[in-house]
Amino acid sequence: MTDPMTTPADPALESAADDASELIEQSNSEASLSRTIARSDEIEADLPVHPERYRMLTGDRPTGFLHLGHYFGSLANRVRMQDLGVETYVLIADYQVIYDRDGVGDLQNNVLNAVIDYLATGIDPQRTTIFAHSALPGLNQLLLPFLSLVTDSELRRNPTVKDELAGSTRPMSGLMLTFPVHQAADILFCKANIVPVGKDQVPHIEQTRLVARRFDERYGRVNPDEPVFPQPAALLSAAPAILGLDGTKMSKSKGNVIELRMSADETAALLKKAKTDSDRHITYDPTGRPEVSNLVLLTALCSGRTPEEVAAEIGDGGGGGLKKAATEAINGHLEPIRARRRELEQNLDHVRQVIRDGNERAAAVADQTLSEVRQAMQMVY
Ligand code: TRP
Repeated sequence: MTDPMTTPADPALESAADDASELIEQSNSEASLSRTIARSDEIEADLPVHPERYRMLTGDRPTGFLHLGHYFGSLANRVRMQDLGVETYVLIADYQVIYDRDGVGDLQNNVLNAVIDYLATGIDPQRTTIFAHSALPGLNQLLLPFLSLVTDSELRRNPTVKDELAGSTRPMSGLMLTFPVHQAADILFCKANIVPVGKDQVPHIEQTRLVARRFDERYGRVNPDEPVFPQPAALLSAAPAILGLDGTKMSKSKGNVIELRMSADETAALLKKAKTDSDRHITYDPTGRPEVSNLVLLTALCSGRTPEEVAAEIGDGGGGGLKKAATEAINGHLEPIRARRRELEQNLDHVRQVIRDGNERAAAVADQTLSEVRQAMQMVY
């Protein structure tokens, strides 16, 4: 089967078709986001009822240490899914480290620390497969057929790639241009049908759905009743976004993040420098008072209360009272996680074994999928 919109014979036609689909895409993007949200809500409601219907994959670029934003934004949710009985995969996207920089940096250390953070926050390696995508030849080989399913202009209009094109002084690498397709391979190698991500990653999920659909249209099936690849759904986190301690977007280079691996004293020192405002009466008002509200929110999340309760309790305690409450709550909540981290840091052989076992399990799954791809594509000789 061919798709006339995506396989025009003439290059001029191709760009006309691309422009047209871009226009359609722009006018539909809001509708498409609300469809994504609706799908996500529906699945979220079904998860506790039918966990066996789902396979979850998500992951991180190992470019630094995991922090409270990761923890409340995604780590806690992964543990929740694992504990619901969903089959879970957690990917360390080590090839994604090199798409926008010149070297691998402190990769070894970052990867081991990511595994430590996962284990310390409750990921159980018996139930969840933790792996690095560089270790899966079968996953990486999916990139070749998948690249045949996307156009250059689709890649260039991916928001992450577009930002790079617009904002970076370094020339865009071939990997940067094609990494959304590699990310599709991350998701599809294990036929994941749910991918918990932030809103910024939704275009990657859309790209992945497109790859899955086009694979079915162009290369067909092994089992006539079922496409080789499912079209995965994004699961959008219900967790409110957490800002850095200065009220701006979290970024390691701005020194505004609390990392899971920091000590209680380092955490207290960072919180002391956190930005607040001059109104001594503490309220929860994320739009009007973003810095204060962010600290109220963190305190609430770490102490199992609502932000309104926390704000009322601090009352006229001012920035000082708020920081004291935040420090106690955050350090209290992280203490058992940090204790477990310290144990794991002393046992790096175990940490390495976890990722090796995960790599082995995931590689077998990738090989199985690649063999179906070969069959569908008549490449079995
Ligand atoms: N790009 C993601 C990020 O920057 C990390 C990632 C890589 C990922 N592959 C993935 C996330 C597959 C979800 C699914 O955070």
